[in-house]
Amino acid sequence: MINVENLSLQFGKRILFDEVNLKFTRGNCYGVIGANGAGKSTFLKILSGEIDATRGGIGIEPGNRMAVLKQNHFEYENEEVLNTVIMGHKELYSIMVEKNAIYMNPDATEEDGLRAADLENKFGEMGGWEAESNAAELLSNLVSKRIYTIAWSKT
Ligand SMILES: Nc1ncnc2c1ncn2[C@@H]1O[C@H](COP(=O)(O)OP(=O)(O)OP(=O)(O)O)[C@@H](O)[C@H]1O
Ligand SMILES: [Mg+2]
Repeated sequence: MINVENLSLQFGKRILFDEVNLKFTRGNCYGVIGANGAGKSTFLKILSGEIDATRGGIGIEPGNRMAVLKQNHFEYENEEVLNTVIMGHKELYSIMVEKNAIYMNPDATEEDGLRAADLENKFGEMGGWEAESNAAELLSNLVSKRIYTIAWSKT
């Protein structure tokens, strides 16, 4: 669950959010709609921790992690869908890429081999081996659950 508590954000004199309280509950799928400049992107930046609210904030259920993919229609065009989801977990994904590069390198040194073993351990500890099935589950939940929309207009 993600809790939005008394969230307020102001850019200079412009108030975008004033004491917003919202709960995002597990198993649901949410869409954010609103007029251009209403604050959708800013709201998502606060949710993802990219920017701080003026007051209030976001609480995430312990043991959960926020993963974010950029809003860019073409950025992930050449990636497999499951990989794209895993990319949302930047640290895990970079470990995956680095160890795979070592395995693919026919000139890998003994030192590279040790590095790969180290990465393999980290990968396991971070739940890397379950990442693909978790990503698949996340995607199938997206299509099978109720969709809620959060809408607001410019003030
Ligand atoms: N860093 C910033 N400093 C000052 N004003 C900002 C900043 N970022 C966004 N704004 C302003 O806040 C308002 C909301 O912007 P935001 O990008 O969140 O809107 P949006 O709903 O995503 O719009 P769009 O539909 O065009 O994507 C706009 O008026 C924008 O100019
Ligand atoms: Mg936007």
